[in-house]
Amino acid sequence: MNTAVTRNESGVTLSADARAKIDREIAKYPPGQKRSAVMAALAVAQDAFGWLSTETMDAVAKYLDMPPVAVYEVASFYTMYNIEPTGRFKLTICTNLPCALQGATAAAAHLKRKLGIDFNETSADGLFTLKQGECFGACGDAPVVLVNNKRMECWMHADKLDALLDELATAAVTAKQVK
Ligand code: FES
Repeated sequence: MNTAVTRNESGVTLSADARAKIDREIAKYPPGQKRSAVMAALAVAQDAFGWLSTETMDAVAKYLDMPPVAVYEVASFYTMYNIEPTGRFKLTICTNLPCALQGATAAAAHLKRKLGIDFNETSADGLFTLKQGECFGACGDAPVVLVNNKRMECWMHADKLDALLDELATAAVTAKQVK
């Protein structure tokens, strides 16, 4: 198991659980190639902290023996990584051409209007952050929306978008009541 120090100068610490998950990813690569696990490590860190602050990325860099800037480059390139705090639900809508031809532009405009925000903004209630994404490989099911990088919703025209927003808002209220 990798025993690298994971607390950086700012005090961000990767938990034992996070380190164990990252170690499993590192083990998939030849010895000496642990930086190849950077994408998986960032995903683990994001799950743990909700988003990737500079301090969190620094902790990942330290764990993988990488220059911090190399980790920042990966995190800032892919839309699945949150390098700023997000709302409870990150909605990423694909606006590439195949989706645009099937109504993604109108769907994005609908979301913006409904939430009162633009891309890369979070709704006033803190529930929704809207992002613009690249092709998710589901062009035939356009327009496509990804919820928190994991749940893919297809054929998302206005009615289905409204239903999705209602469902997620209800889920957030229910989760609050259960706490
Ligand atoms: S272009 Fe939108 S999923 Fe492929």
